[in-house]
Amino acid sequence: MPAPITCIEDLRQLHRRRVPKMFFDYCDSGAWTESTYRANVDDFSPIKFRQRVAVNMDGRSTRSTMIGQPVAMPVALAPVGLTGMQHADGEILAAKAAERFGVPFTLSTMSICSIEDIAAHTTAPFWFQLYVMRDRDFIARLIDRAKAAGCSALVLTLDLQILGQRHKDIKNGLSAPPKLTLPNILNMITKPGWCMGMLGTPRRQFGNIVGHVKGVADMSSLGAWTSQQFDPTLNWNDVEWIKQRWGGKLILKGIMEPIDARLAVESGADALVVSNHGGRQLDGALSSVKALPAIVDAVGRDIEVWLDSGIRSGQDVLRAIALGARGTMIGRAFLYGLGAMGEAGVHKALEVIQRELEISMAFCGHTDVTRVDRDILVPGTW
Ligand code: GLV
Repeated sequence: MPAPITCIEDLRQLHRRRVPKMFFDYCDSGAWTESTYRANVDDFSPIKFRQRVAVNMDGRSTRSTMIGQPVAMPVALAPVGLTGMQHADGEILAAKAAERFGVPFTLSTMSICSIEDIAAHTTAPFWFQLYVMRDRDFIARLIDRAKAAGCSALVLTLDLQILGQRHKDIKNGLSAPPKLTLPNILNMITKPGWCMGMLGTPRRQFGNIVGHVKGVADMSSLGAWTSQQFDPTLNWNDVEWIKQRWGGKLILKGIMEPIDARLAVESGADALVVSNHGGRQLDGALSSVKALPAIVDAVGRDIEVWLDSGIRSGQDVLRAIALGARGTMIGRAFLYGLGAMGEAGVHKALEVIQRELEISMAFCGHTDVTRVDRDILVPGTW
């Protein structure tokens, strides 16, 4: 009997065993020296909790809201490119797990399954993440497709006009579908479950793009596509244009400085996400959790501030909420579950995080996550 899965690291180990190296590395790495990627995780644990005793721990609730939408816990699945390469039909499976659990799912522009695929396989409205590309007609069509699919929020990513250099992806020759080179074939035959899944699905390319852009019938390299198509001139006027065109709830992702947080408030967005893209863009940037308090202090009364990057446990969620985040996003933590066990693995990752959140919150003297504040943290540790 295999040992039970009790933490996100267990799922990570399984993911590593079951998914081709190219895609595991894409998930499990950062830009350049990976110092920010590591800091995102490492900067959580020095933040210490104040343990309370003899406080009633009955009736614990992790329920909250994010941009007015009820959530089973203040955690949304972050947009992640190539999710459908971690497991066949990965975005559909993750969206279904999120729906069953009661947390929002965000579909990346650079997903394998398309907007329409997710809409056809789920009933809860999901969120769509947009990258701004040079071809504004294509952007307008993506926004319209997200509206037609009933998406309840648009997550606009502001920190990827150009791609941070990720050494492992370059060395591995990352592409979707993977090129059938000898090293790739030798690695893939050691992952039979993954291969069977991929052979059994038609979804093996960037589903939102291939077939929707004139002349793009085969687009396999994320690096080549971003350098040709992503718009390096992106600015706040574009945000305004997108907001008008979308007309619904807008979340701005990739804010790391109070000055940009203030501009996000002025743009009229509903939430901003403190994020350094999981350490995949500007290596040497502060970890998200270190950047969070100053942004909460600057704009926390004017807009919902969320935290993304580095969360690997419910305790990390609790620390972020205590510091003033209204919600959080997880990327790798759910991806490990997906690569390990498909839909059940994503659900497992959410269960693990919720349990850690609920128990830790209670030890700090709280039974309702919406009432947690900085008082649960030891002063001087954050
Ligand atoms: C893009 O979505 C990436 O971080 O790879």
